[in-house]
Amino acid sequence: MNLITVAQVCSVNNQIAKGLAVADDANEVSQTIEALMDEQRKFAPPAAFLAQANETSPSIYEAASKDRLGWWAAQAERLVWKKHWDQVLDWTNAPFAKWFVGATLNITESCLDRHVATQPDKVAFHFEGEPGDSRDITYKDLYEEVCQLANGLAGLGVTKGDRVAIYMGMVPELPIALLACARLGAPHSVVFGGFSSDSLRDRVNDAEAKVLITCDEGWRNGNRIELKLYADKALEESPSVEKVVVVQRTGGDVPMQAGRDIYYHDLVASQAKDRPATETSSEDMLFVLYTSGTTARPKGIVHTTGGYLVGAATTHRLVFDIKPDDVYFCTADIGWVTGHSYIVYGPLANGVTSVIYEGVPNYPDKDRFWEIVEKYKVTQLYTAPTAIRTFMKWGTEYPDRRDLSSLRVIGTVGEPINPEAWIWYNETIGKGRCPIVDTWWQTETGHIMISPIPGVTTTKPGSATIPLPGMSADIVDDEGNSVPNGSGGYLVLTEPWPGMLRTIYKDPDRFKDVYWSRFSKPDEKKWVYFAGDGAKKDLDGYYWLLGRVDDVMNISGHRISTLEVESALVDHQAVAEAAVVGRADATTGQAIAAFVTLKGGNPGGPELIAELREHVAVKIGKIARPASIVFTDELPKTRSGKIMRRLLRDISEQRKLGDVTTLANADVVNEIAHRAASAASAQAD
Ligand code: PRX
Repeated sequence: MNLITVAQVCSVNNQIAKGLAVADDANEVSQTIEALMDEQRKFAPPAAFLAQANETSPSIYEAASKDRLGWWAAQAERLVWKKHWDQVLDWTNAPFAKWFVGATLNITESCLDRHVATQPDKVAFHFEGEPGDSRDITYKDLYEEVCQLANGLAGLGVTKGDRVAIYMGMVPELPIALLACARLGAPHSVVFGGFSSDSLRDRVNDAEAKVLITCDEGWRNGNRIELKLYADKALEESPSVEKVVVVQRTGGDVPMQAGRDIYYHDLVASQAKDRPATETSSEDMLFVLYTSGTTARPKGIVHTTGGYLVGAATTHRLVFDIKPDDVYFCTADIGWVTGHSYIVYGPLANGVTSVIYEGVPNYPDKDRFWEIVEKYKVTQLYTAPTAIRTFMKWGTEYPDRRDLSSLRVIGTVGEPINPEAWIWYNETIGKGRCPIVDTWWQTETGHIMISPIPGVTTTKPGSATIPLPGMSADIVDDEGNSVPNGSGGYLVLTEPWPGMLRTIYKDPDRFKDVYWSRFSKPDEKKWVYFAGDGAKKDLDGYYWLLGRVDDVMNISGHRISTLEVESALVDHQAVAEAAVVGRADATTGQAIAAFVTLKGGNPGGPELIAELREHVAVKIGKIARPASIVFTDELPKTRSGKIMRRLLRDISEQRKLGDVTTLANADVVNEIAHRAASAASAQAD
């Protein structure tokens, strides 16, 4: 049996990236693809699962492909609309799509009002605080709190179309804040609580947010995260923000600026527990969420209302086999798109009970997730491969302490899962009873695109299987031609889908350029979305995702651009030049490896390494801190002055070095390789 390690998967990623661009690597690429394809194991849905599954017939794929728009319209009927659509899709102004054209709605009526009418006392969220506190919030409670905050925000001057920035820990007031904005038709811009002041400032300024909602502090790994202090620092240079709402989570003593800052509990205390839902068009902006691209400047991904909710709710129900009595637990943070679509909007539209957990999986001990599964009798668990690999490292002792028999479907998202981790997840967590749904999608796609349907699809460890009904994907070569089964290339999406991003905020040209220029043929009215991922199709037509083909790294499932980290490094006064690559890491998928040239012949040293790592954490956030930094007098460059990242990746992964004859400064490579090898063991976190 051929087990593929994470390192191998990641080296395939790099080879695919290179192989598609560098002809002499092609042989190596196809050999590695063949190695991956040796993964022969198949898992049909277990019989006991099948006996109760919502969907068991492949006919759902046929129905959707026969009449794609009709199928989506049928899904849309499950939601509450104020006015029905005149047209399901308007693609005449491609690549700018409009879905459910002419319809109006307020997304919170599907997520709250209708459940309050039929099941007011059903728990919407079991909140589990990191320190051990917990709180159950029913649909009625949630509705009332959302209306109170919406009333409070309206009192602060927030009206339809105003942007509200949200920078919080994982507390119940976070989904409440999103929903309160949606109630008012005010787009939200959530900034992950792990981002730095500078990152927050840039996002708040790009969105020109009028109000910021934050917390005094957050709990993480037993420590207090000083969110309000970071927010204050960001706001020194964010002139658009008029008011700051502060949720008291830890009760820490934080400065409150008179006239600008107000505590959440004071704001909502006297507000009515009811508020009519603002009517929004299907194409009004619901949120903007920033994500890394290949430049140093994050992109504001714009999602609108009707199509997004149809996509999120439909895929949530289908992929997780959702039933009325389920208790669903997604371990993502609402600061990322997974939390938007699969903690807030999808699950609430489907009226399920979810668990929200505030903290880290090893607080107070390494069985915390499993304790939560046991406590709430969780039926679906949705987490990331990096977490699964960490659990593997910790050992089976921790899950074995707890009763996991309530689990029915287990999922992964964010990065490729290596077969070894897949098998561990299947055996140790799912006990062979629970189908695994490996879900491929992006901030841009809004919802899951490629995934098994658990009662229908035979799974293969490491493959996200095939596109869901209503979605249309392909893998193409450099010229945009579909590759045959058994080959690799670029992943593309070939038909518009309801939750697709509509544009990049304030930058439609960049939107067209980044996603639609590579493979589209506008003259032939052929629009092809380029996802930025390498992938292969096996002989059964299954998709195997191989990672990014651009300069975006995937660290523990989080997207970080090499350029963002490089510009944070050169921002430090001692740094002349920096090059950053993602290198394979057995736990985090990729780790950030930096190569730095210092000014004025400074040789550097351990203190400067620590200072530079901290500098990046302050500029971007801790997730972007390089795992290793190597000082070098020169970076390897082509004669035209381009940094050869390919070589730096080879060096970082201690591979045999590729061709160096095109380098202007070939000698430097051996020197860097030598320094990197000695640094690797010393610096790893
Ligand atoms: O490279 C793919 C990887 O994560 C990227 C999207 O990142 P982000 O927008 O942050 O969204 C993450 C959560 C949806 C993709 O371009 N990715 C995501 N899911 C998978 C994956 N790679 C392989 N398999 C997956 N299941």
